[in-house]
Formats: sequence, C-alpha cells, structure tokens
Amino acid sequence: MANGDLFGRFSERVMAASPEIAERFRGTDMAGQKRILHHAINLVLAFFEHDPIGAWAIERVRRTHARSGLDIAPHLYEPWREAFLETVEELDPAMDDGVEIAWRVVLQSTIDYVIAGYDA
Ligand code: HEM
Repeated sequence: MANGDLFGRFSERVMAASPEIAERFRGTDMAGQKRILHHAINLVLAFFEHDPIGAWAIERVRRTHARSGLDIAPHLYEPWREAFLETVEELDPAMDDGVEIAWRVVLQSTIDYVIAGYDA
C-alpha cells in the first residue's frame, strides 16, 4: 500500500480480467469497489490468523456469497486471486517466489472455506 494505490489497481485488474465479476459490481462505484476489496483482504488475513472476528466475518461472507445469496460461483475466485497477486507483483518490490507462495496459502484458506459453503 505504501507503493501505490493497491486496491484501486486490484479493482481495475479484477474488473478487466473477468467480465462476469465486473457485471456483479456494475452497481458499485470505484470507491465502493475499493472499499469492499480492501475489507475482503483484511478479513482474509484475519481469518488466516485465527482471529475470532475474522472467523465470524468470513463465516458471514460464506453465507452472503453462496448460491442462495450473491451467487458468486466458485470459478470466479480464480481471477479474483490472480488479479490480486498480479497487483502485489506490480507494487511490491519484495515480491518473489516465497512471498507469492505465502500469499497463495493465505488467500486459498479463505477461498476454500467460502467456496465450500456455496451450496451449503
Ligand atoms: C475470498 C474472497 C472474498 C472475500 C473475503 C469477499 C468479501 C466481501 C465482503 C466483506 C463484502 C461486503 C459485504 C459482505 O460482507 O457480504 C463483499 C461484497 C461483495 N462481493 Fe465479495 N469477497 C470475496 C470474493 C468475491 C468474488 C470472487 C466476487 C465475484 C464477483 C465477489 C463479489 C461480491 C459482490 C458482488 C459483493 C456486493 C457488492 C456490493 O454490495 O456492491 N466477492 N465481499
């Protein structure tokens, strides 16, 4: 975040990478998109750290993003994850294979949990 507009760039990348994701955010302006993405990444980190508020919030995301709610299909998490990693690559000079793998592990723990609730 110290090196640029992390969540603005993440937002631009994810909307460009997936027209399906862009369609879902059609009614949300850029500031709103950035706020949601920033909030989402903070929750991913908190969930990974076993923070009780993170666990509570990701449990909520699991319900709101399920088929019966926002209906975020499992295949949409891949472009979301890759757009975030490309943005870190763009802005973090310390990004290397180790940092990338660390991010993948952190992101995937939430993604797997949220996707497992799609039809729950
Ligand atoms: C692990 C990944 C994700 C996390 C942690 C996450 C988290 C959140 C959070 C915290 C919100 C705010 C409202 C709420 O609490 O439900 C939200 C809203 C939303 N998310 Fe996600 N999200 C993730 C992935 C995705 C993906 C892949 C999509 C694909 C389209 C998506 C689409 C949406 C939409 C459409 C909204 C509502 C937007 C609005 O209110 O304008 N999310 N998400």
